[in-house]
Amino acid sequence: MIDKNFFEGNDPQKLAQCYGTPLYLYNERVFRTRCREMKNLVTYSNFSVNFSVKANSNLSLLKIAHEEGLHADAMSPGEIFVEEKAGYQPDEIFYISNNVSLEEMRFAVERGIVVSIDSLSQLRFFGEHFPGAKVSLRINSGVGAGHSDKVVTGGKKTKFAIAVDQLDEARAIVQKTGVRLIGINQHIGSFFLAGEIYLEGVTALLKIAKTFPDLEFIDCGGGFGMPYDEKTQHRLDLSGLGAALDEVFFRFAEEYGKQVQFKIEPGRYLTAECGALLGTVWAVKENAGHLYCGTDIGFNVLIRPLLYDAYHEIETLPHRPEATVHPYTVVGNICESGDILAKDRLLPDMKENDLVLVHDAGAYCFSMSSNYNNRLRPAEVLIREDGTVRLIRRRDTLEDLIRNFE
Ligand SMILES: Cc1ncc(COP(=O)(O)O)c(C=O)c1O
Repeated sequence: MIDKNFFEGNDPQKLAQCYGTPLYLYNERVFRTRCREMKNLVTYSNFSVNFSVKANSNLSLLKIAHEEGLHADAMSPGEIFVEEKAGYQPDEIFYISNNVSLEEMRFAVERGIVVSIDSLSQLRFFGEHFPGAKVSLRINSGVGAGHSDKVVTGGKKTKFAIAVDQLDEARAIVQKTGVRLIGINQHIGSFFLAGEIYLEGVTALLKIAKTFPDLEFIDCGGGFGMPYDEKTQHRLDLSGLGAALDEVFFRFAEEYGKQVQFKIEPGRYLTAECGALLGTVWAVKENAGHLYCGTDIGFNVLIRPLLYDAYHEIETLPHRPEATVHPYTVVGNICESGDILAKDRLLPDMKENDLVLVHDAGAYCFSMSSNYNNRLRPAEVLIREDGTVRLIRRRDTLEDLIRNFE
């Protein structure tokens, strides 16, 4: 859902002229608000919010999240590298590994970053090479959720985490290799709008946590959703979820005999709504009774609709509230028929040089962009709280396309 003052007084047409399109725009005020909502989710004090930067790893946004007191999780040495550049200290980074090499493990361990291990096979490997190192086990407590099968990361059909019936063996490996098990973590999947499923996952994880006596932290994962389509989706009841989590956290601490640290790792909730994507309409055509609106937003720029059938609200600029609406299939400039941003979307009579503004484009949008068809990845700008606009990532250049060739 886009904030009504998203542009903070700026004219989107002027921004398009100044920076070109496609253009990712981020609103700093909205981003800071989301960071604060997550930080204040519970009153339990030993609580940390790890920004899951896979959702958006722009350096400037990472710095803002750090200013807001967030920590970060990482899925690769590349994410660790960027987090360090943004000022995160090793104890503020959690490396959630999945099928990684010795070099990748070493990259984290040498920096003093705690690694989450998600299979018995990798636990043996980690233990052999890093006896004494701190480790966390990623556990599949049996609960999964998500907006698409592709992002459900708990339950029966997932490559992630150590199953409950493998935990005895995991304990044996920990003991044999001498690694220091200081945490357990889970992530049930990405996107839920009802807190119950998250609570179910946390409750299942805490039952398991009681069987590990010396934990320093328990990471409950991310997945908090926000409405992409206001007509069919509602906001997550954060205060209700926070109160329920508080109750569960305090009770656990009492029974466990220690104020263990609780972590969460949201990505989408923090960044989706602070972002929007501006594109230009370059062609309007009809084929076999279907109207097509041809833009510069190819799936190299925004892949979520193609990958997940994801919905993004599309606003046309300038606004023409009096114009007749027609069902347009909004497409990009990539040489594939699947290059579709939205199907049969009711939009006012579209013309060349109109702008389209794609809402809620701050999570898994730029971070999933590519150079497919040798297209240039877009620029990113930040709209500051005082209304000033700053380029925070320049558009790729043609030279960038050949930089790595020998
Ligand atoms: C391990 C892990 N943690 C956190 C996240 C963040 O999820 P979300 O952006 O839905 O909050 C993901 C995303 O899939 C993930 O894989």
